[in-house]
Amino acid sequence: MTDTKKSIHGEWSSRFAFILAAAGSAVGLGNIWKFPYITGENGGGAFVLVYLACVLLIGIPIMMAETMLGRRGKQSPINTINALVEEAGADKSWHYLGWMGVIAGFLILSYYSVIAGWASAYAFKAFIGSFVNADATEIREIFDDFIASPMQLIFWHSLFMVATMLVVVRGVNKGLEKAVYFLMPALFILLILLVGYAMTTDNYYQGIKFLFSPDFSKLTGDSVLIAMGQAFFTLSIGMGAIMVYGAYLPKDVSIAKTAFLIAGTDTVAALLAGIAIFPIVFANGLEPSGGPSLIFQALPIAFGNMTGGWLFGVLFFVMLVFAALKSSISLIEPAVAWLVEHKGMNREKACIWSGLAAWLLGFGTIFSFNIWSGFKIFDRTIFQLLDYLTANLMLPIGGFFIAVFAGWIIKQQHSEQELQMPDAQSYQVWRFLVRYVSPAAVFFIFLHVVGVL
Ligand code: PFF
Repeated sequence: MTDTKKSIHGEWSSRFAFILAAAGSAVGLGNIWKFPYITGENGGGAFVLVYLACVLLIGIPIMMAETMLGRRGKQSPINTINALVEEAGADKSWHYLGWMGVIAGFLILSYYSVIAGWASAYAFKAFIGSFVNADATEIREIFDDFIASPMQLIFWHSLFMVATMLVVVRGVNKGLEKAVYFLMPALFILLILLVGYAMTTDNYYQGIKFLFSPDFSKLTGDSVLIAMGQAFFTLSIGMGAIMVYGAYLPKDVSIAKTAFLIAGTDTVAALLAGIAIFPIVFANGLEPSGGPSLIFQALPIAFGNMTGGWLFGVLFFVMLVFAALKSSISLIEPAVAWLVEHKGMNREKACIWSGLAAWLLGFGTIFSFNIWSGFKIFDRTIFQLLDYLTANLMLPIGGFFIAVFAGWIIKQQHSEQELQMPDAQSYQVWRFLVRYVSPAAVFFIFLHVVGVL
């Protein structure tokens, strides 16, 4: 691998741009929509603890590994892995690793875009005043009517997919980078405002207690797997999104520092979302285990009945769409970069083809909320299956192999050179984590779920 080589897709203009883009990929629906509802479904505090442990012991080392591999390969994840396999003289079956990531990206984007479509529709509903003075029952009806209509879901899903493509087509600097510069600060300001509102409700402490006081009796084998899956999903690791962003990273940036910053930002965003949402859930007598509809049912009640709620509601859902957009662009970028490199397509064509594929796949998720809601495989609707398969299986398996590849296959001298750790000990700590701790943790959690442990 020549050190002077740059990615043909361009480079981030600064270290800060990379941090924003990677943190932008990480902070998304996973933090604001998914984290609260799976925490609610899995009993609260104990689940949050397991999730935090997974971020620290599995997430951060693997995020560093992915960034490092990307920067060394400087191409789409498929070609990066291929080039590094060659450099290390490793077995050709490692090539599947890049492919698995691209497939996971498509599957995730297909349902991600549908949920981002819900957020877009809710921004519109908030704007036209649908939630004003509505009570919990009315808000529930609005949601039920909405997801019962395939046409409405298709409309909003299509709109979001087009928006994603419009950003990606503009490339690394003019598209991805520009978008996150504006979206990240806006997101945090709104989250903090919402936490401020939650603090004024009588149920603030009940919400905090639910999030932070662990009750381990509520933790099942499956919830440990879900906590680990969430760590992968929320950090955008295990499928090559961070790898492709790493490919656009200039040479002199410290990977360790950026990984901590990104994971820290992501964790803070998830906790803020939880702190904002649970008090509102309890204040309105809703169940924390409300599932994927949780924030769509809880928040509009608050917006509909508080002063300034109209503006707040519009802003919140617009922000949620933007949060999703920063992530969706990273879900599709590995495939787009690969099409450009391998098929010699221009970026426009590559975007259209990948967007079209993910858009079509999205119909499976859309129909699982209405006309196919009775159609179940392994007791799960298509949406539930896609979510479980990608977050809880494909990303952890991808992450496991990324860790093994970075820790065992790549030459030590290469990873050391690429990571540029401040001192030898920190490098050894990372190497130990990525060789033993992260893969073993993923492996034991899998054994635990299938009942062997
Ligand atoms: N991290 C994103 C979120 O929390 O919403 C979702 C995601 C983006 C997962 C990119 C995986 C990925 F590669």
